[in-house]
Amino acid sequence: MDYKNKILKLKKEKNAIILAHYYQVPEIQDIADYIGDSLGLAQKAAESDVDYIVFAGVHFMAETAKMLNPGIPVLLPDLEAGCSLADSCPLDKFREFKEKYPDHLVISYINTSAAIKTETDIVCTSGNAVQIVESLPEEQKIIFAPDKNLGSYINNITGRNMVLWDGSCEVHDILSTEAIFKMREENPAAKLVAHPECNAPVLELADFIGSTTAMLKFTQSDSSQKFIVATESGILHQMRKNSPNKEFLIVPSDETCSCNDCPYMKLNTMEKLYSALLNEKPSISLDAEIIEQAVKPIQRMLDISKKLNLI
Ligand code: 13P
Ligand code: SF4
Repeated sequence: MDYKNKILKLKKEKNAIILAHYYQVPEIQDIADYIGDSLGLAQKAAESDVDYIVFAGVHFMAETAKMLNPGIPVLLPDLEAGCSLADSCPLDKFREFKEKYPDHLVISYINTSAAIKTETDIVCTSGNAVQIVESLPEEQKIIFAPDKNLGSYINNITGRNMVLWDGSCEVHDILSTEAIFKMREENPAAKLVAHPECNAPVLELADFIGSTTAMLKFTQSDSSQKFIVATESGILHQMRKNSPNKEFLIVPSDETCSCNDCPYMKLNTMEKLYSALLNEKPSISLDAEIIEQAVKPIQRMLDISKKLNLI
């Protein structure tokens, strides 16, 4: 089946937009109208004027798009495409945690459920987390959830002492310094780029830390010819496309595996994407009351990001 042409034809007929994250398989990235990090994707969703959004990413990303476009169907090719980080922060436990810090403001990474966003003051992504925290007065007490790695990275950079929820991403948190030392020994001139969801010892070794978009830009503009990449393997597709003469090596998650695939991101396939567009399902459904509450911290994030020229 020629899914590519069928998808492109249906997309036009139905006035749909395909938004894809960098961790999607290359074929999906290649047919997307827009590929980006969570911040870029949220911004694109906010300004979309279409009849359907097809979200090639994970559930929290599609939920964000739905909250910003409650009037149109947001299709997610596989509704099982969750996120271990979002799952590490269940609502009941988070509410109990929040009660211990009544005078704290809540900043949540966008990798959370809509329910957690209703308990949040400002959402952030890896593309604006440091700036969002710095936009608040120094004396402001903050709870940061759910990623402890991103949270402690921000605490280090800003000198703040945010209270951290103990969550992490199963793909990034297992990347090890041993693997990196070995790769560096074999590739001494290579620079290490890392996503801030990696653990602190990995981040300490990095030459550059940033969101998927920021890492991509860095590898394009930096003069190095070789990069060791500490994140999910999907990003390599755009890195190689944008810098065809440079070499990219992914940090293996263990000795026996040379690729780091997010099992949730990789649930989406061309076949499922085609079926979603054809049948106009599965789509994200959210309670209107949840949307009303959860969209507020997302909108705050977009407003601050615009003011700071981050989008
Ligand atoms: P980015 O916003 O940097 O693309 O990260 C999203 C994500 O889920 C990383 O694991
Ligand atoms: Fe979630 Fe990690 Fe997958 Fe990103 S890579 S979507 S944080 S499980």
